[in-house]
Amino acid sequence: GLALLGPRDLAGRRIVISAGGTREPLDPVRFLGNRSSGRQGVALAEAAWARGASVTLVAAHLEVPPPAGVDLRSVSTALELQAAVQDAARTADVVIMAAAVADYRPAELRTDKIKKDETGDTLRLDLVKNPDILAGLSAATPRPAVIVGFAAETEADPAALLALGRHKIARKGCDYLVLNRVGWSQGIATESNDIVVLDRRGDIVNEASGTKLSVANSILDVIVRAGTPDHH
Ligand code: CTP
Ligand code: CA
Repeated sequence: GLALLGPRDLAGRRIVISAGGTREPLDPVRFLGNRSSGRQGVALAEAAWARGASVTLVAAHLEVPPPAGVDLRSVSTALELQAAVQDAARTADVVIMAAAVADYRPAELRTDKIKKDETGDTLRLDLVKNPDILAGLSAATPRPAVIVGFAAETEADPAALLALGRHKIARKGCDYLVLNRVGWSQGIATESNDIVVLDRRGDIVNEASGTKLSVANSILDVIVRAGTPDHH
């Protein structure tokens, strides 16, 4: 019954969530990618929808099924993800950038397969930087009321990890940063997560560990507390 449902405290909010990992094509059969499964972003979309939000999920190569009820926009490359996020953000109150966006793409997209006999034992690839979608969105006017970034860091020392997070949120210009430590068997492509949420001042406003769904709800709690006005 109704009593089993959680709070509908995001009713009326329009939330855009990016999830998954982008792929940057090299030639018709190959790409540069990353190990993101999309689980954390999908959990955010599921949790936000359950709490009453209208959700657009910009999805890059999810390894898990997208939740029911969301407006799904499938993309592949960082540039496609940027276009989809920018378009959806025009009418959004909240944007959460959970996607693992490729920092670089091949400078040249080959129309035919790269052949082994073109090179000796070493193939050198030229890569160019992709635009920083989160920083661009945060600097735009008008912009969504609340913008949340993620930072995946391999730093093991907790104090140094926090310092990296504080530096990153200052550089990005977003309102909150979800900081988590990643490694070969931690944080990325896993079932659970362990995060802290920083605000613009670099203060810790929430901490959570557990399933990606419970972590998602802790992140959404911060957004609810921030009390964004409706877009309209
Ligand atoms: N991000 C983005 N556009 C990019 C790269 C990253 O919008 N071209 C977003 C990610 O979705 C994430 C945040 O920026 O929300 C931080 O990503 P991260 O990879 O941790 O930081 P970078 O700024 O790319 O720095 P680096 O990888 O060198 O640590
Ligand atoms: Ca990066």
